[in-house]
Amino acid sequence: MKRLVGILIFFAVFQIGIADGNNIVPTPQKIEKRNGAFTILTTTKITHYPELRSSAEYLAEYLPLEIREYNENSNGNIVLVVNKKLADEEYHLTVDSQAIKIEGSTPAGVHNAIESLLQMLPDAVYRHQLSFPTMVAGCHVEDKPRFAYRGFMLDVSRTWVTVDELKIFIANMAHHKLNKLHLHLTDDEGWRIEIKSHPELTEKGAFRGKDYPVAARYGKLQDNYGGYYTQEQMRDVVAYAAARNIEIIPEIDLPGHSTTLAHVHPEILCNYTPGLTSSVGYDTRNVVCAAKEDNYRMLNDILLEIADIFPSKYIHIGGDEVSTSQWSKCPDCKALMAKLGIDVSQLQDYFMARVAAMLEGMGKQVAVWNEAAASAKLTRKAMVYGWENVEACRKAAAAGYPTVVMPGVYFYFDMQQSSREPGHNWAAIFDARKVLSFDMAAHGFTEQEMTHVQGVQASFFSELYLPNREAEYDYLYYQTYPRICALCELAWRGNGGEWSQFYSRLVNSHYNRMVAMGIDFRLFPPTVSFADGKLTAKVNDRSSIYYKIVGQQGEYRYEGPISTDTPQRYSFFSRMGGAVSPEQGVQGRWRMLQPNVKITSSIAESEKYPYKNAEGYGRIAHTSKAASEGDWVMYTFEKPVTCRRLEIATGNLTLPRFVFDAGYMEVSYDGTNFKRVCDLEQGAGVIENPAKPIKAVRITCTQTGNGDNYVTVQPPKVYPKL
Ligand code: ACM
Ligand code: ZN
Repeated sequence: MKRLVGILIFFAVFQIGIADGNNIVPTPQKIEKRNGAFTILTTTKITHYPELRSSAEYLAEYLPLEIREYNENSNGNIVLVVNKKLADEEYHLTVDSQAIKIEGSTPAGVHNAIESLLQMLPDAVYRHQLSFPTMVAGCHVEDKPRFAYRGFMLDVSRTWVTVDELKIFIANMAHHKLNKLHLHLTDDEGWRIEIKSHPELTEKGAFRGKDYPVAARYGKLQDNYGGYYTQEQMRDVVAYAAARNIEIIPEIDLPGHSTTLAHVHPEILCNYTPGLTSSVGYDTRNVVCAAKEDNYRMLNDILLEIADIFPSKYIHIGGDEVSTSQWSKCPDCKALMAKLGIDVSQLQDYFMARVAAMLEGMGKQVAVWNEAAASAKLTRKAMVYGWENVEACRKAAAAGYPTVVMPGVYFYFDMQQSSREPGHNWAAIFDARKVLSFDMAAHGFTEQEMTHVQGVQASFFSELYLPNREAEYDYLYYQTYPRICALCELAWRGNGGEWSQFYSRLVNSHYNRMVAMGIDFRLFPPTVSFADGKLTAKVNDRSSIYYKIVGQQGEYRYEGPISTDTPQRYSFFSRMGGAVSPEQGVQGRWRMLQPNVKITSSIAESEKYPYKNAEGYGRIAHTSKAASEGDWVMYTFEKPVTCRRLEIATGNLTLPRFVFDAGYMEVSYDGTNFKRVCDLEQGAGVIENPAKPIKAVRITCTQTGNGDNYVTVQPPKVYPKL
């Protein structure tokens, strides 16, 4: 038998090497190498203290070994032990030739140890394909998180995320030792959780489009779109997350962001008749009337069920971006303000205080976005999520609120990672490097303020997820990883440290792990240079480089420098598993022309944002109302333009909203005769390789109304011949 073990060890060392604890992400506080190694055999057992049964089962999902209760003969095994001397999420992990010993005072600490152990094993463990024997190098880890709150917010309202997709996202968060999932369950575009006392909220409000009261938006402009979680499904997700040390904090976004609620229950709105001319009959109001007692009764019904589904102490009730103009116009709200002797800026405090008291009666506390605590009137038991800027986070902490720090400029992972990549850009354009650089001390958080900071969180608002789902890569994962890697490092250590060191951990180990986890993350782009007639591309990771050539179909593997006299025709990118980088090229590759253009339309222009703004290629232009069938916008060039591609888009620059929901595009070479070239998709049309210089293009709308008050008119995008 001994000889057999010896042979097996020999086999393991020379065939598969010794797995070790190099480059664990997030970086443990203390890790020491020890002599020896532990060999996991098919006969190795996972043994556990009785209270750690579910931790053992979680480990066995990755290491399919027999599970037994711990006894004094547990040597030779992987042992899970309760050590009450350790703090809540703290753990010790010791690997020697006798055992792999995991110690924690709670399942949370033990979970963190298990995630570190998984990272010490060959990446195949994440594919559930680890083969035995596997040797693990001797080590001793003593580790605990700096922050108790290490979170991520996922918006499942704008884009519906199925139960299975949600579970995969949770599993991957757990591998990064994040422990809070803030689920943005309602917004203007969809209600995603079943409420048994108000089934209409999901029957009508979980979908949008032509058969539903909520307007089509974001990616699906012609069809009905949506989905929701039954309470049974959500309880299952809550349990799945809990088994991975993740608490789900639900958000019902109130009193603003409530278009869905308002279209299912118009009576919750303020008591006045809105002007509906500009929106072609669609009521865009989205604020719950603060004066109607029936509204509080309905919210009580809803929140009672939410409080029952989710065990978390906090229920997030939003409070962001509330347009008080609706309350100002409402006779009922005005009467209430007069009675209370308050102005409209204080009405949000009143609303929040009532909902907070309601939740307190249910044994819960409120969580809110920073605006709802700006006046500091809200109970200090409320947890505040600072999103608008760093100052808002500091202010909440200084006022004594338990504070989650998540300013958009560092932590909104729906933002673009560079200027040509998809995403929003209203907060900032940034990649993982900037996330890692977030430094609370440098931002002036005082020691006193830090006592109130619970931790950090990133978010993914999903207006662009659906329109980008058709992309070759998985937009959600492209936007969130490796930015989540940087987030978890920051949350675990309190400070991200040097980028170069962290990046080498990613490149040397963690990229491979993420490929095995099935995470289609974003790679950093290749560096491209051109000298002596040769085009060269380089990466500093282990990805493979590919290139495309303008005007040619397909992509080619890059094998070495390319001789060319038209370097601007090439773009390079890299791949590793499902991970992909953005394209990179020499200067001039993405150059655009800006020919003089005149914009005219059948719809009057907005006074504030006239069409000449877009003629100047700089700023935004609006129509004065939503488009009706037959409305058109025309772009006439002063001189006919020669180009390889011309795009006309309606809508926000990075978002298909305020668009022609349906329509077509025509081209004219003489300014008089027009020929149809394509249907609009997401409010945009494209002409590729036009036969002649283009004098004018026209887009025509074929669908009345779009649930918005206007259409955004963008400058034409004119790509030169290269
Ligand atoms: C938010 O981004 N409105 C919280
Ligand atoms: Zn009102």
